[in-house]
Amino acid sequence: MSKEEASPSPIKAEDSLNVRADEASGQPEREVGYSAGRGMHTEGLSAWYGQMLAVRNVNLRIVPRAITAIIGPSGCGKSTLLRCLNRMHEVVPGARVEGRVLLDGQDIYDPSIDPVRVRRLIGMVFQKPNPFPMMSVYDNVVAGIKLNRTAKRAELDGIVERSLREAALWDEVKDKLRASGASLSGGQQQRLCIARAIAIRPEVILMDEPASALDPLASYRIEELMGQLKTDYTIVVVTHNMQQASRVSDYTAFMLAGADRVGELVEYGDTDHIFTNPHDKRTEGYITGRFG
Ligand SMILES: Nc1ncnc2c1ncn2[C@@H]1O[C@H](COP(=O)(O)OP(=O)(O)O)[C@@H](O)[C@H]1O
Ligand SMILES: [Mg+2]
Repeated sequence: MSKEEASPSPIKAEDSLNVRADEASGQPEREVGYSAGRGMHTEGLSAWYGQMLAVRNVNLRIVPRAITAIIGPSGCGKSTLLRCLNRMHEVVPGARVEGRVLLDGQDIYDPSIDPVRVRRLIGMVFQKPNPFPMMSVYDNVVAGIKLNRTAKRAELDGIVERSLREAALWDEVKDKLRASGASLSGGQQQRLCIARAIAIRPEVILMDEPASALDPLASYRIEELMGQLKTDYTIVVVTHNMQQASRVSDYTAFMLAGADRVGELVEYGDTDHIFTNPHDKRTEGYITGRFG
């Protein structure tokens, strides 16, 4: 019986979230040079930690192959919202989500969907660079790629080089691929984490304050890299640095927690518009530094 016949799911085999034939081989899902980077949107998305509502009723559009920044004061739910976008929120005991999150129109919370697969398609980069310290640069890049057939090993070298080039790190590490990932500088480690994220060819990359633990030059290099990556990937970046948001992003979502301390999406729009002519007084107050 084929996979399609065996599956109780109404979702067709060619749909993005179902297992593709090439996945069984451990191959990255996208060919080199093949540009995907799908869009997402949320519908009535709310997120809880136990009894505590952290984010309420967010309807957000994430434009494909563009950078969407999520800004707002500390504690307003930016990271929580981001983690709902690849089903990492539910990993916290007692945490749950209501509403829908769609990747290219398909709900990633549909019961037929494997959350592990969601996280392969929607990758994540964290604030603090977190390469696996006991692994080499090379092994860090391929850490997310499952190998089932030894014949595929030959392709790993190509994947490593491609991923490191895309992460703007190749020239700096090509002669020390066997050195420990931990031996790199902070900025290099963050680019290594980005290389690890893109090695498995995700559609979307979520970044939570990816440059805030770095010095200004390393931070600038991450911003520059994001600008290059958006030709192939859809990027969502959380940042509390408004200059960074205005420099790197195409679209901006402003979040704020009201008196009840529940985070909401106040305003969304073109970054230029949000930073020069916001509709909402609260957005204006925030971007002009009157609070937050
Ligand atoms: N793991 C957690 N368990 C319980 N509450 C949490 C957890 N993580 C975040 N929160 C709470 O959720 C709210 C939003 O937090 P967060 O999404 O981290 O905000 P931001 O990223 O905007 O600073 C805060 O009140 C925070 O204390
Ligand atoms: Mg946060």
